[in-house]
Amino acid sequence: MVESVEKKWWKESVEKKWWKESVVYQIYPRSFKDSNGDGIGDLNGITEKLDYLKELGVDVIWLSPVYQSPGDDNGYDISDYRAILEEFGTMEEFDRMLQAAHERGIRLVMDLVVNHTSDEHPWFVESRKSKDNPYRNYYIWRPAKEGKEPNNWGSCFSGSAWEYDDTTDMYYLHLFSKKQPDLNWDNPRVRDEVYDMMNWWLDKGVDGFRMDVISLISKKPELPDGKPGINGYASFNEPANGPHVHEYLQEMRRRVLEGRDTITVGECSGVTLEEAKKYARSDEKELNMVFQFEHMDVDADGTNKWSDKKMDLRDLKHIMTKWQKGLEGIAWNSLFWENHDQPRSVSRFGNDAEYWEESAKMLATCLHMMQGTPYIYQGEELGMTNVPFGDISDFRDLDSINAYRELTGQGVFTPEEMLRYLRYKSRDNARTPFQWSDEKYAGFSSGEPWIMVNPNYKKINAREQMMREDSIFCYYQKLIRIRKQYDIVVYGTYDLLLPEDPELYAYTRTLGEEQLLIVCNFYGNTRMFTLPDNWELGKTELMIGNYKDFKPEKELVLRPYEAVVLRKNGGK
Ligand code: GLC
Ligand code: CA
Repeated sequence: MVESVEKKWWKESVEKKWWKESVVYQIYPRSFKDSNGDGIGDLNGITEKLDYLKELGVDVIWLSPVYQSPGDDNGYDISDYRAILEEFGTMEEFDRMLQAAHERGIRLVMDLVVNHTSDEHPWFVESRKSKDNPYRNYYIWRPAKEGKEPNNWGSCFSGSAWEYDDTTDMYYLHLFSKKQPDLNWDNPRVRDEVYDMMNWWLDKGVDGFRMDVISLISKKPELPDGKPGINGYASFNEPANGPHVHEYLQEMRRRVLEGRDTITVGECSGVTLEEAKKYARSDEKELNMVFQFEHMDVDADGTNKWSDKKMDLRDLKHIMTKWQKGLEGIAWNSLFWENHDQPRSVSRFGNDAEYWEESAKMLATCLHMMQGTPYIYQGEELGMTNVPFGDISDFRDLDSINAYRELTGQGVFTPEEMLRYLRYKSRDNARTPFQWSDEKYAGFSSGEPWIMVNPNYKKINAREQMMREDSIFCYYQKLIRIRKQYDIVVYGTYDLLLPEDPELYAYTRTLGEEQLLIVCNFYGNTRMFTLPDNWELGKTELMIGNYKDFKPEKELVLRPYEAVVLRKNGGK
């Protein structure tokens, strides 16, 4: 009998790969470390702190964009893909940073932002000049439809996704800000340009790419309307998983990645499980893994993220399990609670007040013991929290500022409501300066930072945690060490226990005869958990836990936000 394709993928996916065994650390350069006192993080600042990352134990850095950019969306609007933004440093400084990372055994992944460019990119400057400009077709231009925008798509950052340009009396598409026009991937010249540029960076020695909103690059030619949301526009995700996206990614694989030892992760907003199996298929014809966002919607109000609703743990378990089981043996998961677009996880899913430390460690345990490659967002390893922003003038992020204007302007929310939602959900919660020490400006800079420092830096900072054995930082170190030590953490299969329990997240990992049991209490109540029948107390050892004096019992007692990882056959 001919072996089914899925079966073959399964075999290959249990194959060992370094990128499955790695832990990735995301750096948002503007807020990581400022080396020259101008209040803006920079490349030399990163180089200075590589030993810190080495000590944490991560294998790969994902660097958010450092390219030339007017900064409308903090670097996600690129005007030159082969130049470094002056504020961040020079190309020589980049090369030095890359070399210093490699010397420490740390790989570097670049952010590849190619769904769109900046409107200041020379391609767009040309494109908008005339209908017959050679660069016209690099972008997506359409005439008005009945005197209005060509369709009802909304921008991710409020308003329509179309901007009228009177030079040629046409609209261009921008799924993000109007300073981020969408590239036309159906034009082979655009794809050639992107592949050349990627090869250029790989030849320089970078180790892979995180691909920004890569699920959006292929638009249906008829650009159909979508279902309107609370502001009257369809979601920017409307074009997700378009007709040619897999074809383009396979072409990219052939023209750029094949034969190179890289790590690739696609940011796939709007991705479904079935689509993810194609993007991240184990035969490595497209990407190594994807970021999916379903679990980031557990506390949304329907399709509207602006709310302060708390999640129901059962929804989170259901979603995580769907992805854990759905990709098992077929594709590979990436695991994250945080990134530069999300608020701080300890404030969102944990308790950043009386159980700050316990809940930060619990969340780390729950995520790092799942199957997939874990991503740590800068400061997450310290349990950095959401920020007590004052009024709207404290925010820097265009998404937050535009949403505030639009939704208060339309009367959807009052200014007070909207501020409450922003304090809970704004991307700026993740973008305040990294808290290095209890010195002025949290040791991030000698000058005033571009965005406020979280006032809790005197308590929450790296210096304090690196010196304290039971800190969140040291707990992350230990989780990373465990991953390196036990294959089961990387390759074991995942199975959920107690799907309907509203407070405990319990699951097992299994590899051959070996088994791990992970039990996480997501709330402030003390809870009991009965050890499964096939677990013998005498052969059960604690691998890691977030309370000092935990003892395995047949009836486990889990204190507020307690997390334990038990290993079967241990101590034999
Ligand atoms: C991605 C980035 C986000 C950015 C957007 C547009 O979602 O993560 O920060 O604003 O794409 O590039
Ligand atoms: Ca600087």
